[in-house]
Amino acid sequence: MIDLLVGGMYGDEGKGKIASYMSLQDKPRYALRTGSVNAGHTIVYEGKKLGLRIVPAAFLNRSTKILLPPGCLIRLDVLFKEMEETGIRDRLGIDANTAVITEKEVEEEKQNAFLSKEVGSTVQGVGAAESKRILRKLALAKDYKELKDYICNVPLLVTEAMEKGEYAIAEGSQGHLLSLYHGHYPYVTSRNTSSSGILSEIGISPKHVGEITLVFKAFTTRVGGGPLEGELSEQEAEKLGYVEFGTVTGRRRRAAPLDLDMGREICRVNGATQIAITKLDYIFKDAHKKRRYSELSKEAQRWVENVEHRMKARVAFIGTGEEVFDIIDMRKEK
Ligand code: GTP
Ligand code: MG
Repeated sequence: MIDLLVGGMYGDEGKGKIASYMSLQDKPRYALRTGSVNAGHTIVYEGKKLGLRIVPAAFLNRSTKILLPPGCLIRLDVLFKEMEETGIRDRLGIDANTAVITEKEVEEEKQNAFLSKEVGSTVQGVGAAESKRILRKLALAKDYKELKDYICNVPLLVTEAMEKGEYAIAEGSQGHLLSLYHGHYPYVTSRNTSSSGILSEIGISPKHVGEITLVFKAFTTRVGGGPLEGELSEQEAEKLGYVEFGTVTGRRRRAAPLDLDMGREICRVNGATQIAITKLDYIFKDAHKKRRYSELSKEAQRWVENVEHRMKARVAFIGTGEEVFDIIDMRKEK
């Protein structure tokens, strides 16, 4: 069985934190990460903060093998740096067909004013590399001798594990509303970020999917251009404490309250079997670092129940702080 983690809105919901918690708790055989270097997953574990752009956050479990699937795009400098930081050299596999972004694609995107100014792209070369791959002009992982020790067949390895009844986690990146196909085009990223996109990037059958967890933050943020329903002014956002800065770009994120009707629709089309809500402690300060549902104030509990009711989705995880274990695991509460 493979569990999917999908960003509910515009990304930065805290998928990294949920993935790292699940890896320590549920001990997957494999952890996979789709997407590319334009999305940063931040994890805070044992007092250390780590921003990851390629390695899945679920690497935290030392017995978990790390796989980079054919549909993801890597950059060699970022990969080798993160391999060093995470110590996963001996448990890493990269599919032969994984795409490799070079400095050239980054430069090309920098020159593209529509992308960098209007769309508000992070200009990491992902779209340029992806378009070259479509034109069959991009070198893939199998073409780089530096990667030869890691090359494997990811769809086959995962399928074999599924056939043996093993467990895996796949992390999506960004969120449903930034999907190339399902977001507000052209204010989107260069890939399909929904649950179906995660599967096609890995290249395995939908029949192996277990839980589909849509991750929502207690409020919504967005970087770059494009519509944001219910957008707050900077002052209003500050008053409510909805202030965040991007991991990759350092830009201040635009903010809005969580739109529950939109959330319900997104859960339906992604086939959510459960949801995670992160940063409850931003809305209810007294929720900070709580690990049991009963320790939340009545007001916070009512807020969570309302989300569950309106989104018509079971809440499996509630984030209450930055650290991996600052979480209420509702699967254990029942
Ligand atoms: P993308 O792939 O870019 O969408 O990344 P992401 O969804 O993993 O989110 P990102 O890592 O960009 O941002 C999450 C940040 O919020 C990290 O610094 C986390 O430590 C922090 N965080 C996650 N959950 C919680 C929470 O429940 N409360 C608090 N206070 N911080 C949290
Ligand atoms: Mg992020």
